[in-house]
Amino acid sequence: MSFVITGSVAYDYLMRYPGRFRDHILPENLDSLSLSFLADSMRREQGGVAANIAYTMRLLGESPVILATVGTDFGDYRRWLEAQGLRTDQIIEIAGELTATFFVSTDLDHNQIANFYTGAMGHARHYSLADRGLTGASLVLISPNDPVAMLNYAQECKRLQIPFAYDPSQQIARLSGEDLSASIPGAAYLLCNEYELAMVQSKTGWTLEEIRRRVETLVLTLGKRGSVIYHGDQEIAVPAATPERIDDPTGAGDAYRGGFFAARMAGLPLAVCGKVGALCGVYALEHTGTTAHRFTVDEFIRRYEAHFGPEASLAKLRAAAALVS
Ligand SMILES: Nc1ncnc2c1ncn2[C@@H]1O[C@H](COP(=O)(O)OP(=O)(O)OP(=O)(O)O)[C@@H](O)[C@H]1O
Ligand SMILES: [Mg+2]
Repeated sequence: MSFVITGSVAYDYLMRYPGRFRDHILPENLDSLSLSFLADSMRREQGGVAANIAYTMRLLGESPVILATVGTDFGDYRRWLEAQGLRTDQIIEIAGELTATFFVSTDLDHNQIANFYTGAMGHARHYSLADRGLTGASLVLISPNDPVAMLNYAQECKRLQIPFAYDPSQQIARLSGEDLSASIPGAAYLLCNEYELAMVQSKTGWTLEEIRRRVETLVLTLGKRGSVIYHGDQEIAVPAATPERIDDPTGAGDAYRGGFFAARMAGLPLAVCGKVGALCGVYALEHTGTTAHRFTVDEFIRRYEAHFGPEASLAKLRAAAALVS
């Protein structure tokens, strides 16, 4: 049975501004803010959370199914996904819409100014797992998407008793305390970073203990301090890996999730899944863009063992990869 990832699939426009935004923001003129920054480099990358996570899972030999809505400009992106060995038959093209698009400029201090255009992603709410014949999924990952679609998928998974992993990430800002209180309980996994966990706590009024009791496994990422996996009474501290350089601060969270779930699907214990995620996060940091990193399963295992020490269970990752490739 397949691993289904619902969430955004988007074009990312990554621009570099060779100055500092702060030098041009006049606090006394905020009422008539009007700024244009001349970028000296721009790249267009394949992005969106669902595609980012699927991409890293695929590097580790898994074949997740992406369920998403895109626009009529999706042709070259679809061909790129297929060239990576990913299925695209559940990526639905919406007539008259453009694919969701993320525009971000980064300055010399790594400060960022961004816009995200929803486009075709706004139609995701009209496509259920049942409509698409996906109710037999072994796990459904609900990642940032049209907020109504996210809530629909959580409700549908609960109603049909499909195990789901909930990764609301940046969309927590768009979900109310009521939405979160209705969608989180019963999740097999809840994933967030520290700031997002604090937002969930403040919106729901739940303590960390109360959140832990409502989900099977809580994965909390802590940037360069690693991550913690809470499962029942266990609290597993997972160290970070060490990047050789940091090219681009974005993408670590998605790559971590891709690594974590690829390892989980291969049957690895949670502590190992966390370390696989940590190393995937570092690969993403070492490259500009969220789907620019690349490795073979053997290269990955060598680097994992050089960093974290020998791990016999990684043979399962190699076996899973050999099955699908
Ligand atoms: N500077 C770093 N050095 C080493 N590992 C890192 C670093 N930043 C992130 N990671 C790894 O990636 C994981 C996820 O990162 P983080 O907690 O920053 O997620 P996030 O805030 O969701 O990031 P994103 O901006 O990609 O959404 C961390 O648990 C860690 O393993
Ligand atoms: Mg994140």
